[in-house]
Amino acid sequence: MDEPDALLPAATRAVLFDAYGTLFDVYSVGLLAEQMFPGQGQALGVLWRDKQIEYTRLVTTSNGGAHYQPFWALTRAGLRYACKRLALDLTPEREQRLMNQYRHLSAFPENREVLQALKARGIVTGILSNGDPLMLDVAVKSAGLDGLLDHVLSVDVVRKYKTDPDAYALGPQATGLAARQIVFVSCNSWDALAATWYGYQTLWVNRYALPFEELGTQPVRTGNTLRDVLGFFPAG
Ligand code: LAC
Repeated sequence: MDEPDALLPAATRAVLFDAYGTLFDVYSVGLLAEQMFPGQGQALGVLWRDKQIEYTRLVTTSNGGAHYQPFWALTRAGLRYACKRLALDLTPEREQRLMNQYRHLSAFPENREVLQALKARGIVTGILSNGDPLMLDVAVKSAGLDGLLDHVLSVDVVRKYKTDPDAYALGPQATGLAARQIVFVSCNSWDALAATWYGYQTLWVNRYALPFEELGTQPVRTGNTLRDVLGFFPAG
């Protein structure tokens, strides 16, 4: 035996998906936002999302994480900021309607078929998300994805958001696999980049024809839809 197992390529056995922006369309709130604030729906959708993500980084990197708040609270804070910045009148009733819409974001249409195809190949499936457990539970159920996911992992248990390594570590911990045996799928380029740095196999799904991050590392693969994850697991 002159070729120890450690030198053989690791078999890829699991797929973990990011949730917001990847399985669930964060910009689907734009339609309601546009009805409320004509001409400003798209701007609000983009600024709201950017602020939400900026706040995850602020609370994770500041003061040893002492200012952690669950993703739902940061989502609300991001909405309030974005409305102030765009000078939009966010009444309590409007806030409630927009937040309710966020709880029930549209799922991208290919989700179910891709998860079914992975299950048919015997692949372990899951979500690894910044979303808090209640948000993820509602989103997974309203998209009809329960039963197709072996793991729904929320960073809330470590109270640190991606891209903290403790957040990405939840994948190997839950599956018992090494990161290099897991494909991590995200439409968010920063998330695909940091997951690559962490050691996952990665697929960046570039839904919006955007450039990738300019930090010298590329994802393992790039695709246009979640279907491209099946390229890691040829049938038969
Ligand atoms: C998530 C954020 C990145 O679902 O959207 O983790």
